[in-house]
Amino acid sequence: MSEGITQPDLALLAFAREIRPKAYAPYSDFRVGAAIFAGGEIFQGVNVENAAFGSTICAERGAAMAAVAAGFREFDAIAVVGDSDAPTVPCGACRQFLAEFNPEMRVIMGGCTDAVEVTTLDRLLPDAFVRGYLDQHDGEDDE
Ligand code: THU
Repeated sequence: MSEGITQPDLALLAFAREIRPKAYAPYSDFRVGAAIFAGGEIFQGVNVENAAFGSTICAERGAAMAAVAAGFREFDAIAVVGDSDAPTVPCGACRQFLAEFNPEMRVIMGGCTDAVEVTTLDRLLPDAFVRGYLDQHDGEDDE
C-alpha cells in the first residue's frame, strides 16, 4: 500500500508478532496478533475464537479493548500480523471499530514472510460512519 515504512512502524509490528502465538484459534488455525500505539503506550491483542463461530473476536478489536480499558481513546497506529504470506489486512468490522478511535491512524501489516505494508485507516475504509453523523440527528422522532 502507500506509506513509507519507518522504524516505529517496525517496532510496533514486532509487538504484534510477539503476541500472535497467544491467539486462541482452534477452528481456523489462523493466528493473528495486533498492537496499538496510543498515548505513548502499547496495547496488544490476539484473535479469540469460539465454538459459536460468529462469537469470535479479532486481534485488532482485542487490542482496542485493552487500550480503551486503560483510558486511551485516540490511537496513533495499529500493527497486525497474521498467518498469511501476504501481509494480513484488518477485516471490515475491525476497520469500522477502529475508525471510532481515529480514522486516520497508521496501519502496519505483516504476515509470515518479511513483507510489510503500511497505510492509513482512511485509505482502508473511506467514508467511515463516525459519530459526526449521529451529532447531525436532532433527537426528534420523525413519525
Ligand atoms: N482475524 C483477525 O483476528 N483479524 C483480522 O483482521 C482478520 C481475521 C481472525 C478471525 C478468525 O479468528 C481468524 O482470523 C480467521 O478468520
